[in-house]
Amino acid sequence: ILSNIINSQIAIHTEYGGVVPEIASRKHIENINPVIRMALDEAGVTLDDIDAIGVTYGPGLVGALLVGVAEAKAIAFAKNKPLVGVHHIEGHISANYVENKELEPPFVALVVSGGHTHLVKVNDYGEYEIVGRTRDDAAGEAFDKVARAIGLGYPGGPKIDKLAKEGNPHAIEFPRAKIEGCEYDFSFSGVKSAVLNYLNGCEMKGIEVNRADVAASFQQAVVDVLVGKAVSAAGKLGEKRIAVAGGVASNSALRAAMKQACDEAGIALCYPSPIFCTDNAAMIASQGYYEYMAGTRHDLDLNAIPNLK
Ligand code: KG4
Ligand code: ZN
Repeated sequence: ILSNIINSQIAIHTEYGGVVPEIASRKHIENINPVIRMALDEAGVTLDDIDAIGVTYGPGLVGALLVGVAEAKAIAFAKNKPLVGVHHIEGHISANYVENKELEPPFVALVVSGGHTHLVKVNDYGEYEIVGRTRDDAAGEAFDKVARAIGLGYPGGPKIDKLAKEGNPHAIEFPRAKIEGCEYDFSFSGVKSAVLNYLNGCEMKGIEVNRADVAASFQQAVVDVLVGKAVSAAGKLGEKRIAVAGGVASNSALRAAMKQACDEAGIALCYPSPIFCTDNAAMIASQGYYEYMAGTRHDLDLNAIPNLK
């Protein structure tokens, strides 16, 4: 990776308690050219040195995706470079290749982001089998909603991660959902509701809430389920490697618990550095590289697909 410039909009959206799609797209338009300029400068290259343009075209917020897709098409057209559309979630998985040079398929990927919670068997570059998925909220979404409920605000995941370090993860017993007949599917709306009920109960009884205990106990409930299902899926599929991906993969409790469970099960574990876990350009470049090598080329009619399968 020669450069990986991130222009975060967190400060802007914090004011509203979450991402405001219209503001996000406007800010993308303002920022995209300066970010590309910085990326080229830091890498010490010009657009002429680039072999191919990788861009994510989904899934995600359509307004934000469109800015990137339009920009990538413009550069590809102006510089006559190949255009390679990339699946956002495949990008998260491929973030693992950046620093773990020895990682190659097959392996099991646990994808945990703000919009996705998937257990995926990665059979080859670009070849996936979905083993399990969430039935309702994504793991990151649950973190964000619980953070809001205990007054931590946006973005919830990192704030819960931090506060949980001061709390007791066994103070409150929140539910770990099991899904009848679908061993590897997830559900996080139950644990989220349990936290809300707990908070309401405390308020009605006039009991002061220990927010650090709530954060730690909620996080523990989510982590237990993620780790348990990922390790048991790897065992059942006979895979000896698990890669964790997506924004929630930067969660310190998840990383520690995964490490311990994988060590005990004799499974090799990898996860990207935190900066490559949350949305970033390097992960799209990584997946774009494998797509490019496999011959993927997109035409200038490439469009953003918010719900890309
Ligand atoms: O992958 P990502 O950057 O964007 C999506 O594609 O969704 O993931 C963002 C999600 C948010 O829900 C955020 O709260 C969560 O990842 N997240 C975390 C942590 N850092 C980010 N969740 C738990 N612990 C963290 N340290
Ligand atoms: Zn993402």
